[in-house]
Amino acid sequence: MIATYQQRSQARVDAALEQLFSATRPELTRIYQAMRYSIINGGKRVRPLLVYAACEALHGDLDQADGAACAVELIHGYSLVHDDLPAMDDDDLRRGQPTTHKAFDEACAILAGDGLQSLAFEVLAAPRHNPDDAGLRLSMIATLARAAGPAGMVGGQAIDLESVGHRLDQAALETMHRHKTGALIEASVRLGALASGKSSEPDLNALQHYARAIGLAFQVQDDILDVESDTATLGKTQGKDQAHDKPTYPALLGLDAAKTYALDLRDQALHALRAFGDSAEPLRALAHYIVERHN
Ligand code: IPE
Ligand code: IPE
Ligand code: MG
Ligand code: MG
Ligand code: MG
Repeated sequence: MIATYQQRSQARVDAALEQLFSATRPELTRIYQAMRYSIINGGKRVRPLLVYAACEALHGDLDQADGAACAVELIHGYSLVHDDLPAMDDDDLRRGQPTTHKAFDEACAILAGDGLQSLAFEVLAAPRHNPDDAGLRLSMIATLARAAGPAGMVGGQAIDLESVGHRLDQAALETMHRHKTGALIEASVRLGALASGKSSEPDLNALQHYARAIGLAFQVQDDILDVESDTATLGKTQGKDQAHDKPTYPALLGLDAAKTYALDLRDQALHALRAFGDSAEPLRALAHYIVERHN
């Protein structure tokens, strides 16, 4: 079920993303090429899938969720381009291809990341592919800005870089993961719910509990895959966390306990959806997928 759902939603967001990069000005060709290269390259699109699945859970119209689906993937893509830079994780491979700074150059990769971030907010602010209600769009912009910025992903990346070579306790590790990865995943679910135009406070609350659990589970599984997968399957270099002495769940708890923890978080996420009916099946399937995925 998840495979079909995933393909359908991936195709949907890929078409919308493709449109964003179809009109380029000749004098700006290289920067647009670098931005396009960083996005149109076979990511799993988990965050857009969560946007659509949350919108569906509340019986919303997916046409109003395309803007948010693109916006979260653009922010995610920017975060990866910068995460891979020599000043950060110094990675050469991403989604099975040379990283953006390798395919272009470092300055171009920095600008491509900056450009993707701006484009995300441009897309989310426009009425096209978003709810008509300007107040709702403003809430959505605020949600994404907070999740992407120092209170969210950027803050988590800063903790990540400061923590290299230090031993974090579990509380500190959780704080880092909740910021660097969890925040954007939580925002994706909330944006999908808001885009439906039908979200009540209890809905948003339940969905936040779901998203908090899978947001952390996602990075725990990312840490596990860095240990036990391989470079070809991952499309990024396996074993980099250990090589860089990064604080991770397997490093702190051991591989088996990290896996048990990921499953526990999945169960917490499923529990948070207990009041929802069949419309939340895509969200449930994504919770399973996030801890069972191989890449
Ligand atoms: C990788 O994210 C970086 C993390 C936040 C853990 P994904 O595993 O979603 O990467 P893509 O988008 O599929 O390449
Ligand atoms: C990245 O975490 C989180 C981001 C905000 C990009 P990682 O550094 O573990 O991601 P990968 O393993 O390089 O994809
Ligand atoms: Mg990193
Ligand atoms: Mg990295
Ligand atoms: Mg990783």
